Amino acid sequence: MANLWLMLVLCLTVSVRAMPEKTIFEPRGHHDDKVIFKPKGHHDAHKRNHDSPKGSRGIPDKTHVAPKGASSTPKAPSVTPKVKQGRPFFVFGDSLVDNGNNNFLITGARADMPPYGIDSPNHSPTGRFSNGLNIPDVISEYIGSEPVLPYLSPDLVGQKLLIGANFASAGVGILNDTGFQFISVLRMPAQLGYFKEYQQRLSLAIGEKQAQQHVNQALVLISLGGNDFVNNYFLFPGSARSQLTSLSDYVTYLIAEYRKILEKLYEMGSRRVIVMGTGPLGCAPAERMQHSLTGDCATDLQSAAALFEPKLTQMIQDLNTKYHADVFIAANTKLMHHDMITDPKAFGFKTSTTACCGQGPFNGLPGLCSLTSNLCPNRDEYVFWDAFHPTERACRIIVQQIMNGTPEYMKPMNLSLIMSLDSKM
Ligand SMILES: *[C@@H]1O[C@H](CO)[C@@H](O)[C@H](O)[C@H]1NC(C)=O
Ligand SMILES: *[C@@H]1O[C@H](CO)[C@@H](O)[C@H](O)[C@H]1NC(C)=O
Repeated sequence: MANLWLMLVLCLTVSVRAMPEKTIFEPRGHHDDKVIFKPKGHHDAHKRNHDSPKGSRGIPDKTHVAPKGASSTPKAPSVTPKVKQGRPFFVFGDSLVDNGNNNFLITGARADMPPYGIDSPNHSPTGRFSNGLNIPDVISEYIGSEPVLPYLSPDLVGQKLLIGANFASAGVGILNDTGFQFISVLRMPAQLGYFKEYQQRLSLAIGEKQAQQHVNQALVLISLGGNDFVNNYFLFPGSARSQLTSLSDYVTYLIAEYRKILEKLYEMGSRRVIVMGTGPLGCAPAERMQHSLTGDCATDLQSAAALFEPKLTQMIQDLNTKYHADVFIAANTKLMHHDMITDPKAFGFKTSTTACCGQGPFNGLPGLCSLTSNLCPNRDEYVFWDAFHPTERACRIIVQQIMNGTPEYMKPMNLSLIMSLDSKM
């Protein structure tokens, strides 16, 4: 299977030669020659905010902003489309939470072709790595908001800005060199750079103080780590990283780098951050197929996940001690997934080993859920949608745990408790 990856990497390497060199982050509007596709209208949005008086053409007018939790519609006629908005919500990380940013980028890590999105309202692909909704979408439902838009979407203007934004990009990891084969994905420095740009745009629209408050009150979700194993350390047998570093030292390094990212989120105003670690990596259909002769969960990736999770939880506790507040919440997604994988029937699934969409053993050939793949008729019977990613139904079960889980799943507390505490502030 290493051969397959090699071929994929070679193909991508060949195609990148034809592309502009620059793939690093630069704030939009500075240079136009970069790889990132710049949707029309975004640039204009900046200008509009500068030039026009408040309340005109797509600018959020404070008087039209629904109070927290309120669902009543504003009485004054509004030029901007109505938005359903609860607490602001920001999302960072990888393909488990990307809801379409990669559609706007030159990358192979994308989910914008059928049958992705087959169970979404339009039955068409959205960029989510799911048959329908993904984890942040379901959290938005609980918050009482419409789904947050991908930051690169041209529709993210006007009142939509108040809902929040999703900066996540499939293929990224904690480390900058993770997912190098995916070319111009938004790595963490780029995601944080766009978060800064978002805050500047919001300040122009509603004022600096309000914008800062808005960010402080927000809920934040971040998902990182899986790709640092799957698309870095374990990408090839004998990858450069695995030659140079022991798994345990690598995990220590990852945790130190993840900590820096979380500290940046804090410095940028985040005060409630749900931190997702890796799933039980070795049990993804792709890994069962590639790394295990028996079809059991692949042991090397399982050991990696087992080393990573407790160190992540410890690091999060240390950060909360440092900030004297429960800013960061460890979501034990490994355990949440594990429950469904070990006893799928208890959750109403038919199988947790085979993906709904894909080909090869367990439908586990990575990157190949397409119109020519096997496709299961009933997605609700499967834990895995494709070789790596959960179905909408599995996402819903994960979010139920995020909402209501005991401290074993959500440390120091679950999201229902957070929401009830924060609503009293
Ligand atoms: C990733 O890149 C950013 C910005 O270029 C840099 O500040 C950071 O130190 C890099 N991280 C690592 C682990 O090299
Ligand atoms: C959510 O967390 C709180 C505090 O740990 C706990 O009392 C409550 O029971 C949890 N919810 C559920 C459904 O377990």
